[in-house]
Amino acid sequence: MAQKIIIDCDPGLDDAVALLLAHGNPDIELLAVTTVVGNQTLEKVTRNALAVARVANITGVPFAAGSVRPLVRKIETAAHIHGESGLGGVTLPEPAFSLDPRHAVQLLIDTIMEHPPGTITLVPTAGLTNIALAARLEPRIVERVKQVVLMGGGYHTGNLTPVAEFNIRIDPEAAHIVFNEKWPLTMVGLDLTHQAVATPQVMAKIAAVGTNPAKFVVDLLEFYGNSCREAEGFEHPPVHDPCAVAYVIDPTIMTVRKAPVDIELNGKLTRGMTVTDFRGSAALEGCHTQVAVKLDHGRFWDLVIDALTRIGEVEL
Ligand code: BDR
Ligand code: CA
Repeated sequence: MAQKIIIDCDPGLDDAVALLLAHGNPDIELLAVTTVVGNQTLEKVTRNALAVARVANITGVPFAAGSVRPLVRKIETAAHIHGESGLGGVTLPEPAFSLDPRHAVQLLIDTIMEHPPGTITLVPTAGLTNIALAARLEPRIVERVKQVVLMGGGYHTGNLTPVAEFNIRIDPEAAHIVFNEKWPLTMVGLDLTHQAVATPQVMAKIAAVGTNPAKFVVDLLEFYGNSCREAEGFEHPPVHDPCAVAYVIDPTIMTVRKAPVDIELNGKLTRGMTVTDFRGSAALEGCHTQVAVKLDHGRFWDLVIDALTRIGEVEL
């Protein structure tokens, strides 16, 4: 049985790859896509999400726009990585369908409540504003979802600051809500995603698929590779967001470790840090969180390439 998921995202170059992986993998049923301010303004990331839907030929899935700003903090975008449009390096096709009229938070709640308990996995690949608001507006979703598998955080490094990762740092109060709700939560953070590098060999395999969607991925990863080299000093870019989708498809693709995680809200130097407690058994009582540690790089990229192959050619 395919895993039913909702992706909450801010496309975003790596978010685009996450959407393509989810759509192209036969073990995933994409129920809805929601957008949130993050890599770019809500308007831009929402437009980008619809354009990616066209590239991937995603149809019959509701897309809804969500929060225009974080709960408390000022908007902080990532144009230096993802470009002014939020999807640098690619030409965006006109969307093939329009948005669901509901606010993303309402679409999240409706979708979760309409499905049987324990059947839906939430996959946030952006700031957690929508997810936090959904948990507050309809607290029953917390018990109803199967799990949350999110890209964000990191237990030994940050990227926006030395210790805070972008998705958590841009809305730490939302992250605090989401990490403290008692749903099973897997943090696929930078420790893991820094292993998901798009090497020249990976790029060559994607290019060899030879379709328009594959070319789209090559183009956006080239742009992304340049930004990650210039802004962050990576030789090859770590492609974060599809890692969370890959874990839902096949949890054996990564090693995970149970550990409590909490969000630092007040530290002058540490705001947005995902403080992870590896002290062992005492800390593990009632622990509902786990963190991703090690990735099987080869199998991860095989999944992405397989998804692109299955999507096949799409006329743009
Ligand atoms: C995360 O931040 C965003 O810029 C990316 O899309 C990814 O979700 C990585 O820190
Ligand atoms: Ca993202």
